[in-house]
Amino acid sequence: MLVIAIAKGRFLKPSLDLLGRAGVRFDEDVASSRKLICDSEDLAFRAILVKPVDIPTYVEYGAADIGIVGRDVLAESRADLLQPLDLGFGHCRIAVAAPKGFRNADETDHPTIRVATKYPSITLEYFNARGIPVEIIPLSGSIELAPLIGLADRIVDLVETGETLKENGMEIVDVIAESAAHLVINRASYQTKRSEIVGMVESLEALV
Ligand code: PRP
Repeated sequence: MLVIAIAKGRFLKPSLDLLGRAGVRFDEDVASSRKLICDSEDLAFRAILVKPVDIPTYVEYGAADIGIVGRDVLAESRADLLQPLDLGFGHCRIAVAAPKGFRNADETDHPTIRVATKYPSITLEYFNARGIPVEIIPLSGSIELAPLIGLADRIVDLVETGETLKENGMEIVDVIAESAAHLVINRASYQTKRSEIVGMVESLEALV
C-alpha cells in the first residue's frame, strides 16, 4: 500500500482530482469527510490528511511514502525529500508586501524592519541577503492584518489572486519566489516501493 500525504485546505480538492485522474479513487467523499485516513477502493493507496506545513515531516519520516505540497512549504521546511514533479496547480507567489504608499518608506526610520510571516526562514534569508536588519514576527494566519494594526511594517506571505492584499489596502513590494504544488517522495520508500512510486510518478507526469 502506498501512503499519500494530502494537504487539507486549498490543495485538497485539486490533489484529489489529480489523483483520481491517475486512478486513485476512494469509496467515500474524502473532501467532505472528517476522517484523517482514507483507503482507495482497490486498497492500493492510503490517503492521510494533514496540515500543509506538516506534509514534509510526514514524508521525511516515512509516515507517508509520497505527498503533495506547495513549494513554499518545502522551501521553509528544508526537509530532505525527493521532489520530482511540479503538479501544475496551486500557482502563487511568495511576496514581500506593505500597506499602499509605504513601499518606498525610508527604512532607516526604524533600526530594523518588523516583518510578519509564516515563513521565518525564507524571510530571514531574503532580508539577510540584502543586508537589511529584520525582526521576524511569527504568525500562522491572517498575516495581512499585522501591518494594519501596527504589529509589523511588512509581511512576507503567499499571494495567489492578490485579492486579500487588495481588500486590505496592501501591495506587493517584491516577489521572492514562485510556488506551485509539488510531488514529494520519501527517499527510503523510493527504494523499497520503487515500482509503485515510479508508476505513480509516470501517471502524474502524463497528466500534468
Ligand atoms: C493565504 C495567504 C493569503 C491569501 C492569499 O491565506 O496567506 O492570506 O491566502 O490569497 P489571495 O492572493 O488569493 O487573496 P489562507 O487563505 O491560506 O489563510 P491564512 O490567512 O489562514 O493563512
